[in-house]
Amino acid sequence: MKALKIAIQKSGRLNEKSVELLKNCGLSFENYKSSLITSVANFPLEILFLRDDDIPEYVQDGIADLGIVGENVIKEKEVSVEYLQALGFGKCTLKIAIPKEKPLNYIDDLNGKSIATSYPIILQKFLDQHQIKADIRTISGSVEIGPGLGLSDAICDIVSTGSTLRNNGLEPFADVLSSQAILIGKKDIKEHSVVEELLQRVQSVLRAKE
Ligand code: PRP
Ligand code: ZN
Ligand code: MG
Repeated sequence: MKALKIAIQKSGRLNEKSVELLKNCGLSFENYKSSLITSVANFPLEILFLRDDDIPEYVQDGIADLGIVGENVIKEKEVSVEYLQALGFGKCTLKIAIPKEKPLNYIDDLNGKSIATSYPIILQKFLDQHQIKADIRTISGSVEIGPGLGLSDAICDIVSTGSTLRNNGLEPFADVLSSQAILIGKKDIKEHSVVEELLQRVQSVLRAKE
């Protein structure tokens, strides 16, 4: 049988828990070292180690059949993929944050301000909903240093423990989206017998954790 492919994060917040989940499903494989693809010895599956930002498109386009990625990334990419299972880890919230020493009172106070983010699509929708006109500055990382450098008045980024915000003199101002890791699949892959088997194993691992 031709092995299916599952894409997981190469390094970052979701990597370790994604590997742990697959191992708890009884899959035996070499963890990521330098090879970006590894096969599972006892299950017809190959694992691709990718940048999380690339995973939704890879799954949509069928380069990978399955993926484990944060809902924040899926929503930002506006892809068409199927949600197979919410995984309960990688919980975080996309938040707008502002410098502690320049507090704002109301959401409307963001009018006319600049906001640095790696999530311009999600942020634009949020601003539209609140009828706020702000200047979105898209940058790909280290967003939290924006206000300190005078790049922007506020930021919109993922907050997990909150320590990145604190370390950069920022405080949360508004919640935009709450997120967790999701097992996604390309269209119609759910009916594949290998996916059915994997999904059952994933669900029993999750149930055992309850
Ligand atoms: C997020 C965000 C912050 C960090 C916040 O990055 O961009 O850098 O996590 O976490 P904390 O509240 O626990 O300090 P993410 O892990 O999503 O990685 P990426 O942006 O590099 O993909
Ligand atoms: Zn990323
Ligand atoms: Mg980041």
